[in-house]
Amino acid sequence: MNSRVPGRHFLQIPGPTNVPDRVLHAIVEPTIDHRGPAFAELGRAVLTGIRRVMRTSGPVIIYPASGTGAWEAALVNTLSPGDTVLMVRTGWFATLWYEMATRLGLAPIVLETDWRRGADPAVIEAALRQDSAHRIRAVCVVHNETSTGCTSPIAAVRAAIDAASHPALLMVDTISSLASIDYRHEEWGVDVTVAGSQKGLMLPPGLSFNAVSPRALAAAEMARLPRSYWDWRPMLEANAGFFFPFTPATNLLRGLQEALAMLDEEGLPNVFARHARHGAATRAAVEAWGQAGGLELQCLEPRDYSGSLTAVRLPQGHSADALRGLILKRFNMSLGNGLGQLKDRVFRIGHLGDFGDLSLIGTLAGVEMGLELAGVPHSAGGVDAAMTVLSAQEA
Ligand SMILES: Cc1ncc(COP(=O)(O)O)c(C=O)c1O
Repeated sequence: MNSRVPGRHFLQIPGPTNVPDRVLHAIVEPTIDHRGPAFAELGRAVLTGIRRVMRTSGPVIIYPASGTGAWEAALVNTLSPGDTVLMVRTGWFATLWYEMATRLGLAPIVLETDWRRGADPAVIEAALRQDSAHRIRAVCVVHNETSTGCTSPIAAVRAAIDAASHPALLMVDTISSLASIDYRHEEWGVDVTVAGSQKGLMLPPGLSFNAVSPRALAAAEMARLPRSYWDWRPMLEANAGFFFPFTPATNLLRGLQEALAMLDEEGLPNVFARHARHGAATRAAVEAWGQAGGLELQCLEPRDYSGSLTAVRLPQGHSADALRGLILKRFNMSLGNGLGQLKDRVFRIGHLGDFGDLSLIGTLAGVEMGLELAGVPHSAGGVDAAMTVLSAQEA
């Protein structure tokens, strides 16, 4: 039996994403002394560089942790036991953040959605207007819900909070949108932005981030939830000299330095345009496959379409996991699975990170062949439809 699978694996889940060779080479350089002068240079480069990507002039804290750690840091640094938080359940990741808040002893009010659109600023505004005693301390929204491929309009959420004249902090998860979809921490008045390394930033998993506003820093002085490892204060103190209070993930930080250089070279507006274009081409493919009914986009609201990923619903009675399994075995490509209530109902195509036109066409060709082989009812011509979009729009 031939056990070797030739060709490069297509890692087309919506993160972790493909790590470019430049970043991989940077990461394998020898580990340096994290208290020596060379580290201060690296610390300066990443602590200042990440601000450009998060679009803030304020501090960004970098944890050696997955995104979940940065979720926890956002909550424990700003809130106290029993505090009410308003959370919009746009999908599986919003649900996990809500469950974490509950476990930490917070009292979330959940605004439900059908998982087929982003957060509705009008619903948030109505909930805040009802809270005349200002018990709600924070509004938590996931910018790009990775389980559904729907984005939420963060500037409009800020406007809704202001329209209700409510003092709640705004916390936003940008784990699958940062460096893929336009995001502006400072301009949009976000208090804590949560991000991770393994998606648009083109790094392996293992780093996560909190960008913090002056209001969030003030809240941190009053917050009473227990915190130690996640405490912003010793971090900020050490970061002032570009060091860390404990051993940082030195090699991942060196990778981050390289990834930031690559993003600077391409230019963030071009990075966003590339992702938007790949999202449009992918949706054109899905719409072509679904022409005769059956396959459809999980996201129903064009305003909320994601440039990072596309979640595709299968016709009733067909298993998304069986399709993914077949595509993995036959074409050596990983696609994202359905999560929570979408388990086995959707598969997700990640088109974020270090990703070009031909990577997308290869990905879509693998899906189209997989649909045929798995006997999933579909119309042909998805790849053609995507190629038409890609050749009509300049890269
Ligand atoms: C939007 C979003 N939030 C949070 C997380 C959790 O991050 P991690 O798995 O890095 O802990 C993910 C992971 O995919 C995500 O996509």
